[in-house]
Amino acid sequence: MRIAFTLNERAVELEAPANVTLLQLLREYLGLTGSKPGCEIGECGACSVILDGRVVNSCQLLAPQVQGRSVVTIEGLRAPDGGPSDLQQAFVEYGAVQCGYCTPGMVVAAQAFLNRNPDPSRDEIRAAIAGNLCRCTGYQQIVDAVEATAARRRSSGGGGGQ
Ligand code: FES
Ligand code: FES
Repeated sequence: MRIAFTLNERAVELEAPANVTLLQLLREYLGLTGSKPGCEIGECGACSVILDGRVVNSCQLLAPQVQGRSVVTIEGLRAPDGGPSDLQQAFVEYGAVQCGYCTPGMVVAAQAFLNRNPDPSRDEIRAAIAGNLCRCTGYQQIVDAVEATAARRRSSGGGGGQ
């Protein structure tokens, strides 16, 4: 079937079977491999994308469900100059990236959260990333990176991402 939607602020239209997941559509039909297949049963968050402003597990949606809607993936969260965003840089700076498999989903979830809550507590950050599993970091460094990014954005008065 023909599927048309907005992907990282650009209109895309393609032919794909109605039974492919959004994760498959992104990775196998559109070549965007930043969203990761982890559990593929909706439990790990490695496949997280932002759909109309809310974080969703792309492994749990069928491609036709994004028809006419807006999807943002990790590839769409670059800084204005095309490099890593401030949040991505903070993940590196705070040691929040180890094996890295959870990282795209974690950054997507954190970015969507900061868009809604620019001044979060650590508990709120933990709650926001509760759907994203990380087997490496123990989460502390991830919370540190998100907290630092929020503070920097507030002090600079900038949004810093989508
Ligand atoms: Fe989608 Fe784990 S791969 S939630
Ligand atoms: Fe390895 Fe999170 S850094 S799973």
